[in-house]
Amino acid sequence: MIYPDKNVLVNEVDTLVKKYGSGRESLLPILQDVQRKFGFISDFAMQEIAHRLDIHPVEVYGVVTFYSFLSTEPKGKYVIRLCKTISCELAGKEAVAKTLERELNLKFGETSKDRKFTLEYCHCIGMCDQGPAMLINEQVFTKLTPSKVIEIIDSLK
Ligand code: FES
Repeated sequence: MIYPDKNVLVNEVDTLVKKYGSGRESLLPILQDVQRKFGFISDFAMQEIAHRLDIHPVEVYGVVTFYSFLSTEPKGKYVIRLCKTISCELAGKEAVAKTLERELNLKFGETSKDRKFTLEYCHCIGMCDQGPAMLINEQVFTKLTPSKVIEIIDSLK
């Protein structure tokens, strides 16, 4: 996890505005890149982006809080998102969820103190026929079982 200082953020936003342009339509791609690079979008980053795109900071905040893949808080190095939608629910999501909580010693919605893991629920990720399914950052894991989860988490510790 990188905690950027203000100059680094100003330079990064500058680079992204050059890359995507300073129109309102650039807001989402800029936010996605800042999220990817720094792991979250700080208040300062939101203000700087609003300033550069000439829009109100509240509008930027509204977009960041609307999309679950964007965050105003630092998250773990590994963001684990378990699908909680119906097909995965029926395929055994609950046992997988309990195993994740136990193995990580976290509840859903929490980040570990060492900022290694964040555990969250998400909605359908399009793997309904191979549930239970989860994402770890951008990698998809399917047909999860408690023992498979233990193996995956062990490999990340
Ligand atoms: S219901 Fe879980 S991936 Fe679609």
